[in-house]
Amino acid sequence: MEKVQLHNTINDASETREVEPRQLLVHMLRDSMRLTGVHIGCDTSQCGACTVLLDQETVRSCTVLAVQTEGVSIHTIEGMECDPTVTALKQAFNELHGLQCGFCTPGMLLAARALLLRVRDPSEDAVREALHGNLCRCTGYQNIVDAVLLAAATLREGEAVAIEEACHE
Ligand code: FES
Ligand code: FES
Repeated sequence: MEKVQLHNTINDASETREVEPRQLLVHMLRDSMRLTGVHIGCDTSQCGACTVLLDQETVRSCTVLAVQTEGVSIHTIEGMECDPTVTALKQAFNELHGLQCGFCTPGMLLAARALLLRVRDPSEDAVREALHGNLCRCTGYQNIVDAVLLAAATLREGEAVAIEEACHE
């Protein structure tokens, strides 16, 4: 099958590559770019494990063709090292045991980030609603919800500035 030239930005680096028109974004990121924080759980838009950001919006990369990302800025969890919201979430997940095997965690972090950018002080119900499309087979969800609430409190207290500064040291 004839390949198509694709230009986009992935984790803040400009990329040009040839892709098959039928290749899914999740396969391009995992197989071609070795961005293995993008997980494949269901391949049918059910689990959220393949969540990435397209122009800062959360998207399931198993539902998008790579060629649809022409000119788009893509971020995977690997590109969020210096993001203060993700950093606060990671610390809270670590502190409150919001993960066990970690398979769902990149998708959970990106979905929770999207919530915390919209709502500074979410209720427990709002957290559950925001994460309802991300499945976890290990934790029973309560620790994840608690971790998101803790991260929200950390960010409200302004500790995110310190987190961001630490990242650039
Ligand atoms: S692998 Fe994409 S939603 Fe499950
Ligand atoms: S920590 Fe294992 S699937 Fe969520």
